[in-house]
Amino acid sequence: MTTYLCPVDGVRAAVDSAPWCCPECGSPWDLEFTAAPVPLKSLGQRVNSLWRYEEALPLPTKAVSLGEGRTPLVPMTPTVCAKLDFLMPTLSFKDRGAVMLAELALRLGPERVHRVVADSSGNAGTAVAAYCARAGLSCTVYVPESTSPKKTEQIRAHGARLKRVQGDREATARAARAAADEEGTFYASHVYNPYFLHGTKTYVYELWEDLGGSLPEAIAVPVGNGTLLLGASLAINELHAHGLIADRPQLIAVQAEAVSPLAAAFHAGEDDLGTEFLATLKPPAPTLAEGIAIPRPPRARQILRAVRESGGTFLTVTEDRIRVAQMELASRGLFVESTGVACWAAVGEWTDRTVAVPLCGAGAKTGLAI
Ligand SMILES: Cc1ncc(COP(=O)(O)O)c(C=O)c1O
Ligand SMILES: [Zn+2]
Repeated sequence: MTTYLCPVDGVRAAVDSAPWCCPECGSPWDLEFTAAPVPLKSLGQRVNSLWRYEEALPLPTKAVSLGEGRTPLVPMTPTVCAKLDFLMPTLSFKDRGAVMLAELALRLGPERVHRVVADSSGNAGTAVAAYCARAGLSCTVYVPESTSPKKTEQIRAHGARLKRVQGDREATARAARAAADEEGTFYASHVYNPYFLHGTKTYVYELWEDLGGSLPEAIAVPVGNGTLLLGASLAINELHAHGLIADRPQLIAVQAEAVSPLAAAFHAGEDDLGTEFLATLKPPAPTLAEGIAIPRPPRARQILRAVRESGGTFLTVTEDRIRVAQMELASRGLFVESTGVACWAAVGEWTDRTVAVPLCGAGAKTGLAI
């Protein structure tokens, strides 16, 4: 098995015995793993799920699969296409990462993993609950009290224990981490565990395959903790390193104006979300985009660097724009949850370059935001 690597101080730890974060500095782990080139021409013969990109995956098996991935790419305008990532087994893009974490927990074995815990504003928890059910793993999901009832219902339906935590998303994460420190517990964290990012990166491998071995000029991504963004960045780097794409697309990171610490840091030229900088920001306001309402993302430094290195930028969207975008998409036949419309709200009208927009959570999860 591969090794965890701390991006801050270079500490390494074996995957089968490591704590959930770097023991020296508390940073989320990266994975010491080099993807091999994926052969575009032979993909047609492969399994119809994200496991088809086996050369690029750190876990080359598919015991836990629910057929996730291979979501449709639909032209919306002459320059904008939408990738329907809400058409996943649990109705959001989080399946891409959750399947990796469940597969990893299974491979670590019953002596090491007695139960899995996760924390989430809803979609990641739902996905982890589903893939744990598929893997036969006991699972507990911590969610903020305010999480949509449809998401909590789904988590329970998959047989996971649900713990509602009073307070914000950070309070939920703290409660899960306290549980994660207990013996025999695997913390299936979409934020701290880098296997999740090696799952979300298949979003870009699919784009690349469906566009015949190329990528659009820009890839828009909603950013809370940045798991889709960092996965996309990993894939772009891998494809570029292997000479499988000529140019790197710009990453266009999208946040809700109400909770946009990374957008503010990016435009202020900051390379991290330091305490001093955070103190200068307006406090977060309520937003319809609950899935990206993250005031202090632990991977802030990596996210800011990835967007800068791509030549992209950060955009923010207002609550009104989110409402209108959800109606606009629904009127074109696509019912998407309010977090999942943020990118369309930000770049749907662009005409100056080709751009892919993820519609990454199903409308049925939250209903209409009016
Ligand atoms: C539908 C949807 N879009 C975007 C995001 C943002 O993902 P991340 O926090 O990894 O940036 C989430 C996270 O829950 C989500 O549920
Ligand atoms: Zn460290």
